[in-house]
Amino acid sequence: MDKIVIRGGERLIGEVEVSGSKNATLPIFASCLLSEGTNVFHNVPNLKDVQTIIKVLNNLGVNVYKQGEAYRIDTKEITNVEAPYDLVKTMRASILVLGPLVARTKRAMVSLPGGCAIGARPINLHLMGLEAMGAKIQLRHGYIEARADELKGADISFDTVTVTGTENLMMAATLARGKTILHNAAMEPEVVDLANVLTKMGARIDGAGTSLIEIEGVKSLHAVEHTIIPDRIEAGTLMVAAGVTRGNIKINKAPVQHMQTIIHKLRESGMEIEPDGDGLRVVGMKRIRSVDVKTQPYPGFPTDMQAQFMVLMSLARGLSVISETIFENRFIHVSELQRMGADIRIQENTAIIQGVESLSGAPVMATDLRASASLILAGLAAEGVTQISRVYHLDRGYEGLDKKLSRLGAKIERVKEGS
Ligand code: EPU
Repeated sequence: MDKIVIRGGERLIGEVEVSGSKNATLPIFASCLLSEGTNVFHNVPNLKDVQTIIKVLNNLGVNVYKQGEAYRIDTKEITNVEAPYDLVKTMRASILVLGPLVARTKRAMVSLPGGCAIGARPINLHLMGLEAMGAKIQLRHGYIEARADELKGADISFDTVTVTGTENLMMAATLARGKTILHNAAMEPEVVDLANVLTKMGARIDGAGTSLIEIEGVKSLHAVEHTIIPDRIEAGTLMVAAGVTRGNIKINKAPVQHMQTIIHKLRESGMEIEPDGDGLRVVGMKRIRSVDVKTQPYPGFPTDMQAQFMVLMSLARGLSVISETIFENRFIHVSELQRMGADIRIQENTAIIQGVESLSGAPVMATDLRASASLILAGLAAEGVTQISRVYHLDRGYEGLDKKLSRLGAKIERVKEGS
């Protein structure tokens, strides 16, 4: 197993490019199950989670191969309808094959994802929506078994905004008979990218990017070619890297239009952020101001940036309050940041952070993807050496983050655990 070793204190300077979005790629790859033919995708990030969704698709009989930088996904035939526990347990987003499978093959067997480090993460709303569309669902032996001879359009209202829930039902509805209306739908840019792919495939979707999505079912969908949007969370993570190292970096392909709240909060903290070419020029200031943040569904401040922002606030002058409203247990990075000298108190879903002059390097352990990213950021800013173990979490969702940071001047290397 790899670990990452960082000697902190280097100012990051230079240019870096954002990779394709993980959370757009996963549903878009699953959506291929709805179409018959060979789909082609560009700007796909090289990530563990992308390899996992490919394995899930392979297991269903779908042929996925790379040609140059492009991925080709051939869904002419689906020979199996099961997403097994071994794959789903490594990536919850495997649940995204449920909706498309029921719609295309009338039957799906998907392992229940189970708990997760950041919260219970139930999928009741995915199931409620499919049942409203006429699917018969049974939970047996740890599996969701869903059947529907024909899905029919339905009026569905989400109690809680759910990203993959919206995506699953939007995909299922494209091949249902009649109209489906999704109320309180997720408005994330990744939902919109998926809707764009489905529309190219021939689906009839209105309102993606708003809280009310209407889908008029069609008989069949065809294969498409598409370029995945850049990853706004990776871009935000790189921005914080500039902030905590008082760096000056140009982030090419940063999806500025999807990052307004992140940009706003980072500017409030004192960072200089300006559009530059197809991305952003980001400059970190000596004095970091404390800023309060509350995570919310898009267009609010993303929960996927909460841990990274907390590192910035750990180095700010004054007191800041970060409230996590999406996941009940997404403060697992806090105890590790405390080991590096951060002054953070947790009260229920709120972190109260008293900024400190500096962090000090320490051996720490990553327990989820965004927590790993936050520990890397803390290591970049800290005095001395930080060793981050269990970096496989990082590789699930960041393409070569250590290499990108190294090219910006960070003293960061990946070594085999135990060495
Ligand atoms: N929820 C329910 N019932 C459901 C579904 C969700 O109660 O049926 C609750 C969840 O427990 C949570 C809230 O609704 O409290 C929001 O969860 P959501 O369903 O939106 O999360 P998700 O779709 O499982 C996606 C991203 C996450 C990101 C969240 C929130 C993908 C593949 N994953 O997860 O990304 O944190 O939305 O924005 O799109 C990450 O990339 O690190 C990551 C965890």
